[in-house]
Amino acid sequence: MSDRECPECGGTGWKIIEREGISAAEPCACQQAERQRLLEERAGIPPLYRDASLDNFRLPVEDPIAYRQMASAVLTVRSYVRDFPHSDKPGLLLMGDPGTGKTHLAVAALRMLIARGFEGIFFDYQDLLSRIRASWDPAAGASDREAYRSALEAEVLLLDDIGSQRAPEWVVDTITAIVTHRSNHKKPLIATTNLPDEAVGDDLVERSPDLPGSVRYRVSLAEKIGERARSRLLGMCRVVRLPSVGDYRLKQKAR
Ligand SMILES: Nc1ncnc2c1ncn2[C@@H]1O[C@H](COP(=O)(O)OP(=O)(O)OP(=O)(O)O)[C@@H](O)[C@H]1O
Ligand SMILES: [Mg+2]
Ligand SMILES: [Zn+2]
Repeated sequence: MSDRECPECGGTGWKIIEREGISAAEPCACQQAERQRLLEERAGIPPLYRDASLDNFRLPVEDPIAYRQMASAVLTVRSYVRDFPHSDKPGLLLMGDPGTGKTHLAVAALRMLIARGFEGIFFDYQDLLSRIRASWDPAAGASDREAYRSALEAEVLLLDDIGSQRAPEWVVDTITAIVTHRSNHKKPLIATTNLPDEAVGDDLVERSPDLPGSVRYRVSLAEKIGERARSRLLGMCRVVRLPSVGDYRLKQKAR
């Protein structure tokens, strides 16, 4: 419940209006807001991102190239929501370095879809996996047992930070099963990852900072979730690679 009563309807949800001398009851606008709040609450969006939107997403004005890339990324997110649902590419995958705003944009998309009446659910990848693992215990609680099922069946699934885990076989199998199910059933999936992938032009080989002249290999998306999940994910999603604008969290701290 909201802490303060609505001044329009006094919390009843109805407003008495006068029309041509006759008074009638009309649903108050606060009810729509309340419904939206309930849907968002059920979506499990973490408090840090509760207000994330495209309106409060800042573009990097100090760097014209990054500005253009980021503006185009925001445009893709906007058109994904506008065209939703579309069956050829039901998903949206946001890729990029840590702190560049992937989760912010993903949640903004989810909230806009919720506002349009779709049912969405937010899962942190690690959290989802540990709940799935916990559900193998016969004494597991209902919510852990539900987690896997919601990841498969939710109308819109937001899977945040894909691949942020060691990759034992069961993890690869689980994420493959989820992505395969959603891909086969053309079910929307909004996902984020900070792992590099050659498909979006990331370099998997980089100069080693400690040893001049030597190179090192970056762990890729495919290595963390397996080739099959990666291929289906790229296949079912509009892919957005955010520019490397530096970590927003650190920039905020420096202010
Ligand atoms: N361009 C931006 N404008 C406004 N807020 C931003 C912007 N980019 C990031 N933020 C905020 O900075 C914080 C970090 O961003 P976010 O969590 O979206 O990054 P991320 O790309 O998901 O990082 P990670 O890879 O570590 O998960 C969040 O609180 C987010 O709301
Ligand atoms: Mg994130
Ligand atoms: Zn009201």
